[in-house]
Order: sequence, then structure tokens, then C-alpha cells
Amino acid sequence: MTQAPTREDKFSFGLWTVGWQANDMFGSASRPPLDAVEAVHRLSELGAWGITFHDDDLIPFGSADDERERRLKRFRAALAETGMVVPTVTTNLFSHPIFKDGGLTSNDRAVRRFALRKVMRNMELAAELGASTYVLWGGREGAETDAAKDIKAAMDRYREGIDFLAQYVLDQGLGLRLALEPKPNEPRGDILLPTVGHALAFISTLQNHEIVGVNPEVGHEQMAGLNVVHGFGQALWQGKLFHVDLNGQRGPRFDQDLVFGHGDVLSSFFLVDLLEHGGYDGPRHFDYKPLRTENMDGVWESAAANMRSYLIFAERSRAFRADPEVQEALAAALVPELAVPTLNEGETAADLLADRSAFEDFDPDKAAERGYGFVRLAQLALDHLTGAR
Ligand code: GCO
Ligand code: MN
Ligand code: MN
Repeated sequence: MTQAPTREDKFSFGLWTVGWQANDMFGSASRPPLDAVEAVHRLSELGAWGITFHDDDLIPFGSADDERERRLKRFRAALAETGMVVPTVTTNLFSHPIFKDGGLTSNDRAVRRFALRKVMRNMELAAELGASTYVLWGGREGAETDAAKDIKAAMDRYREGIDFLAQYVLDQGLGLRLALEPKPNEPRGDILLPTVGHALAFISTLQNHEIVGVNPEVGHEQMAGLNVVHGFGQALWQGKLFHVDLNGQRGPRFDQDLVFGHGDVLSSFFLVDLLEHGGYDGPRHFDYKPLRTENMDGVWESAAANMRSYLIFAERSRAFRADPEVQEALAAALVPELAVPTLNEGETAADLLADRSAFEDFDPDKAAERGYGFVRLAQLALDHLTGAR
């Protein structure tokens, strides 16, 4: 029933996802290292369209120039052989101990300057490889104790850093848009820009706000107990949904990075419905971790599972929308009426005050008798999602 993924689906994967060796807080790696060239080929065979990476995923931190060139050459060749693209690139500002107090907001000014240089260098590579989005996830930008971080100064430095990097993109003509990725905690006790809402508010204070948006991750919003569809939806409404990180999470707990659809199924369904029908045309990027229980066969199985989940939800969402009973239920629930402006065209406060039907003659008790029929709609969605309809 569900189609196999094709390039048109614009599925992309982080090199660090399938390449994760599954070393965690309690145990060492359960899988061998994965060569970037093999990742490109295997993902391509599975129907993916793009691959993304942190600088250090492709070129280990501290590599000499000739080693860097050697690795890039092999990677470029794999892209050329497969037709895979690099839509997005990002920087690792979290693994090396130099970043233990953050990159752009470290208390240590020398670390902040080093972090800027690391990002600038990798932005040039991103542009060279044809990327159009540059993700910034500030995993170490934060604190464990409020005694250690002057939040107002940290926000000043964050703004300075992002504005500077955006200006660099503009001055160099790199053709990138920046996408900030929120996360509430982990690895820091508390991370700055913890949610989509915080990030959007922060972006509005930037000089270069036009080229800065967000890259929300499903699980990160859910770690904060928030509704992913609302977060992604507001970002889309503000023209700021530059990129997405799709995965699964089961409520507020450690960052699970499960396969997309293997967390909150209902929310995943409505998220795909939003992306497919709400005007998002960017990459469908998966940022997940193959379970530590899996060997390399399981890794490829899990990569395929992300795409399959997405396609199932997309297909189910089309069926939901095409069902005449759903359309009738949507109308009965007044869902389309929310698109009608509350005021008439050109209506003034005086006009509204003069409209007795809006207030003096309005019977709130009578109007409150209406039932909205949302339960029926929710069940129709579940019926479609589960294939019961
Ligand atoms: C996480 C984060 C990271 C970032 C990635 C991009 O799961 O904590 O999503 O995976 O997305 O590092 O910088
Ligand atoms: Mn995550
Ligand atoms: Mn992510």
C-alpha cells in the first residue's frame, strides 16, 4: 500500500544518526564505526535524497589539511556517484572538552572566538557542497547552576554570535539560511533557547533576522512537555520553519531520538499532515538514533523505518482529508470558520460597538449550548491513522 521512498520525498539523514556507534552514559559502543562513503551509498539505495553532517562527523576534530582534503574528496565522489545532495550542514560545538561551557556563550571569550572560527570554516564548506541551510544546535550553551551564568550577558553573546555569523553568510554570499535548534536540556542541565517559542522570540531581536529561522526537533519539544504540532505550526506561520528534525520521543524524559513514529503516533500523524498540507517544502530530515540493541542490519532497517513511517502518515493524512465524512465533520466542527476574520473588512471599533447582535442581543447561554464535535473528528483521525477506515 505505502510507496517506497523516492528522491522527490526529500528525505535526509544526519551522518551522525546511522553512524552512531551507540556509546551511551552507561556503556561503550555496540557497533563498529560507519564510513561516510558507505552511509551515502546505503542511504541512497534506501531512497533517501540527502545527507547532512557536523564538521567533525566527516573530518575528525584537529585533522591536518591533507587528511581533511582526502576525506572530502572521497565524500564528494560518493555524492557524485549516487546523486545524493547535502541540503544542510551543522557544527559540532559540543563534543570537545573545550566546549564544556558552550561555544557562542562560553564564559571564556577565547572559546567563543574559537567557536566562531569553527562555524565560519564549516559554513564555507557547506556552501561549497551546495547546502542552503545551516543548523545551529547549542547543546552546550547553558548551565547547571544559575550561579555560573549571567543569562542577560549570555543572550547578548548569543545574539552577537548569530548576528555575526549571519552577516558573514551575507558578506561572503554563501547563500545559507541559519536554523536554530531548540532543546530544553541534555547535555547541559538547562540549555539556552529551550523551546521553539524561546527561539522565535530571540530571532526577532536579531539584526539579520530575515535569514534566521528554526530547526525544531520533535522529541525536544516533547521533552519540554509541549505540543509539537503547535510549535512547528507557529514557526511555519511566522515563515520561520527553515528545517525540521523528525524523530520519536515518549514524553518528558531523556532525549530518546527514536525512529519517527515510534514515539507519539498521533502527534506524528498530525505533524506530517501539517508539513504536507501546511506549505512546508524543505527537507524531511531525520535526526534519530538507531537503538543500541541493533547491529548494522538493524541500523539500515531503522533508517528505512523513518521514511516508511513518514510515508504511511502522509498517505493516511491524504485519506483523512479526502473522506467526505471527515469533510462534513470538519464543517460541523466549524474548523473552516476559523479562517474567517473576526471583524468585517474595514470594520472599526465604532462599527463593532454598534453591532447589537455581537453583544446586547447575543445570548451567551444559548450559544454555549453548542457542542463542537471535536471528539468525532479525533476518532475519525484515529480510524484513518489505524487503517480502520
Ligand atoms: C539532539 C540534537 C542533535 C542536533 C544535531 C545538530 O538530539 O540532541 O538533535 O542531534 O540535532 O547535533 O547539531
Ligand atoms: Mn534529539
Ligand atoms: Mn536534532
